[in-house]
Amino acid sequence: LSTGSSGSGEVSAYTRGRINIKCRYDDKYKDKPKSICKIGTQQLCFPLITTKLNSEWTHNGRFSVYDKRSEGFFNVFIRELIMEDTGTYLFTVAVSDEIETSTVVNLTVTEDLFYKKFISKTVQVGEDLNISCKYPESLRNYSKFLCKRHAAVACPKRMSVTESRKNVNVGKFSLYDDRTEQIFTVSIRNVTKTDSGELWCGAGAAWKSDHGYKVYFTQINLTVTGEFVETWRHTALTIVTPLCEA
Ligand SMILES: *[C@@H]1O[C@H](CO)[C@@H](O)[C@H](O)[C@H]1NC(C)=O
Ligand SMILES: *[C@@H]1O[C@H](CO)[C@@H](O)[C@H](O)[C@H]1NC(C)=O
Ligand SMILES: *[C@@H]1O[C@H](CO)[C@@H](O)[C@H](O)[C@H]1NC(C)=O
Ligand SMILES: *[C@@H]1O[C@H](CO)[C@@H](O)[C@H](O)[C@H]1NC(C)=O
Ligand SMILES: *[C@@H]1O[C@H](CO)[C@@H](O)[C@H](O)[C@H]1NC(C)=O
Repeated sequence: LSTGSSGSGEVSAYTRGRINIKCRYDDKYKDKPKSICKIGTQQLCFPLITTKLNSEWTHNGRFSVYDKRSEGFFNVFIRELIMEDTGTYLFTVAVSDEIETSTVVNLTVTEDLFYKKFISKTVQVGEDLNISCKYPESLRNYSKFLCKRHAAVACPKRMSVTESRKNVNVGKFSLYDDRTEQIFTVSIRNVTKTDSGELWCGAGAAWKSDHGYKVYFTQINLTVTGEFVETWRHTALTIVTPLCEA
């Protein structure tokens, strides 16, 4: 067995959060299975997940791999991070029965008590909302993003802010990152029922076309309650009353 290292990386994330590590590969590896293992004692590599060739997504517990063969990259997702996830991982592609090529990824998972990992908000339809995600110092210089989780794992990047103390407005959303205070603020105007769901505040660390990683640091459960009809009925009543008195 020959192992040729084709790259390496250092990534860090935080307990209870998530991480998404991107890895680009040569076209010749497109139809080969990708596997992830974690180096344990005595240099044995404990297998965690191996991709299936007929599906883009492969899941195993807290681990998922999204292999986008048509675009030549895969994303490794780890959810509900714990400190014990710290360690050295090998991302491996079997080229043939005898040869495989690997990338070494050193992951460090830290507990940080400075910020809230989970925020729960309940608001009424039509209200405005501010959510402040504090974040650890190591993420200060990275772009921040807000995403909404759709499928089991994916949280497609929605909108991001790349500069400190600059407002970015996207429709009814507004993002503001104060890097001095380490607070990322998301404002949503006039919320609707469809805004309900699981949102994440995250940071894109050295996220480029061929590599990089995203750290999801705060989970926000947003519940939008109330009916638009209720408000309307009230309005109608105040109009009707003076009419009756006349
Ligand atoms: C990963 O960690 C190991 C063990 O601590 C170290 O020997 C190696 O140089 C590190 N690799 C990278 C890419 O930082
Ligand atoms: C949200 O923050 C902005 C700016 O600090 C403030 O003007 C606004 O009143 C806040 N809205 C809510 C609903 O707290
Ligand atoms: C962020 O950038 C500033 C200015 O370039 C630098 O002084 C600081 O060390 C960086 N902080 C981190 C956590 O990388
Ligand atoms: C709030 O959103 C609703 C539904 O999208 C829309 O009908 C209404 O005009 C909006 N109100 C304001 C103040 O933007
Ligand atoms: C947050 O919402 C998700 C569903 O999106 C749910 O599975 C989870 O239990 C919620 N967490 C809490 C603490 O309410």
